[in-house]
Amino acid sequence: MCGIVGYTGRSAAAPKLLEGLKRLEYRGYDSAGIAVRGEDGFTVYKRMGRVRELAGASTLSGVTGIGHTRWATHGTPSEVNAHPHVYGKFAVVHNGIIENYPELKRECAMRGEVFTSETDSETVAHLLEYYYRGDALAALKQTCARLRGSYALAVMCLDDPDELFGARQKSPLIVGRGEDGLYLASDAPAIAECAELYLLADGEFVRLSGKEVHFYDADGEIFKEPTKFVPEKASPQKGDCPHFMLKEMYEIPTAVAESVVDFESDFRFNEFNRVLCQTEYIQIVACGTAYHSGIAAKYAIEKLARLPVEVTVASEYRYREPIIGQNTLVLAVSQSGETADTIAAAELAKSSGATVVAITNLPNSSLTQTAHFVLYTHAGREVAVAATKSFNAQLALLYSVAIALAKARGQKADISSLLPFPALCRTALTCAEKVKELAPIFAHAKSAYFIGRDVDYCAALEGSLKLKEISYLPSEGYPAGELKHGTLALVEKDTPVVAILTRKALAEKTMNAVSEVYARGGKVLLVTHLGEYAERKEVAAWVPIPACEELFSPILSVIPLQMLAYYTSLARGNDPDKPRNLAKSVTVE
Ligand code: AGP
Repeated sequence: MCGIVGYTGRSAAAPKLLEGLKRLEYRGYDSAGIAVRGEDGFTVYKRMGRVRELAGASTLSGVTGIGHTRWATHGTPSEVNAHPHVYGKFAVVHNGIIENYPELKRECAMRGEVFTSETDSETVAHLLEYYYRGDALAALKQTCARLRGSYALAVMCLDDPDELFGARQKSPLIVGRGEDGLYLASDAPAIAECAELYLLADGEFVRLSGKEVHFYDADGEIFKEPTKFVPEKASPQKGDCPHFMLKEMYEIPTAVAESVVDFESDFRFNEFNRVLCQTEYIQIVACGTAYHSGIAAKYAIEKLARLPVEVTVASEYRYREPIIGQNTLVLAVSQSGETADTIAAAELAKSSGATVVAITNLPNSSLTQTAHFVLYTHAGREVAVAATKSFNAQLALLYSVAIALAKARGQKADISSLLPFPALCRTALTCAEKVKELAPIFAHAKSAYFIGRDVDYCAALEGSLKLKEISYLPSEGYPAGELKHGTLALVEKDTPVVAILTRKALAEKTMNAVSEVYARGGKVLLVTHLGEYAERKEVAAWVPIPACEELFSPILSVIPLQMLAYYTSLARGNDPDKPRNLAKSVTVE
């Protein structure tokens, strides 16, 4: 999604901005731009497409500037809608959505102001100019008081050549102090070289001036400690892999090994264990892939701990009136920790009296600021937009929580049942060649379906999401038993259907659905360790996976499905790392 970089210091700003924007590319965007304050005012350089299209701006002279990668929300992806937006004495870049922009725009238009873009963001520049009386910070405060929605803003004012201003409301903004200057950024990788980082909280402002950083809230100047979080110094590299997605799949065994936690025997989790003992009801809120890991966790927690679990897509939860009892534990799951809907759901749960646990891959992300407890998946940075290793890591961690909850209730469960999974994942990854051979079947199909029962249904949901997001093939994940209640109507000759089969007790039931598909001419690809079913005539192809503890099998069974999405994406000529229209972290509603 959109990314922000700002710099003021002793060096030329343009190369700093371009380098920072390059490091934000993984977030997904459609256009990019920078503005540098030179002798004669602002020079703005914007382009559609990749940050490399801004190379011509690298020689701009000036030591203060702001840059942006834009993922279009309001207004088409175009050069004119790209940021920065300049109006009067102000240049602005914005992440987030200004929800009341139509009324603000009308107000500006009534004063005779002319807008050059279709964006909500340009209204910020207009309001700054309107409120400006010689004090840019005061104008920024007055402007922000008029905005509804979410924003991280980086602002330059012509009258303050060596200064940058920033504001944050529900969209991250970080200040960095480097050897040769001061930085603003929407996320830490953009300014990894900074020795000191400060995180802005909602409602806070910052002024970077020469070597000085001043923080403010609505009441005046405030003191802020630098964060202890140390960002990674080097950006992840693809190594020998052609794509980050493939590389990240090969990192699944390590991600799983690092994310299993024995809560009960680790004193750092004493307080968390106490909460687990008291928990009577669990709600899981998340989006996309993280939502699917929540569904898998529901099966494990209910079975092992006999506790009721409700899993809700965060964007729905936040506008419901969720029923939160005294001992309700809310697990907010988000790889990035920056997903706007998940953060809002966690905030709602907290303000309604729930104990909130953030489950995230990113230290210091916004979600961690909201929660009572933070549990980290240790998947390492995930660059590909399609989540892979972070899903397997979320499962490892959520299953660890399920085991801890069960033990807290005196039920039989042991963390040792998760320990074989890293090695089993390594074996499952050997499916790559076989899956690659099968990809053309999917690449030439009109649509595809994924079916499974119980925990295999969770894998089916995730397999389907992976396939649609990077191959652009319409696809659905379905409970195998539900197929005949509607979706079977879509199965015709050669429609590919992936059946996942890891629950032995339910195997015959799933095979009924396989027969129904076969009878309509569908082509079934079976993912299972149960070879006896693979030999049946209804099965067109078999991808074997190792046998494992059935309840936790999605950690493994999803691997061939992730591979299938990857190779189908390639076979359709797509870039699996950067699917169209999608962003890595969805920081707007
Ligand atoms: C997964 O492949 C998707 N890119 C997407 O569904 C993602 O899982 C979702 O946006 C949630 O992201 P988060 O885990 O960072 O909150």
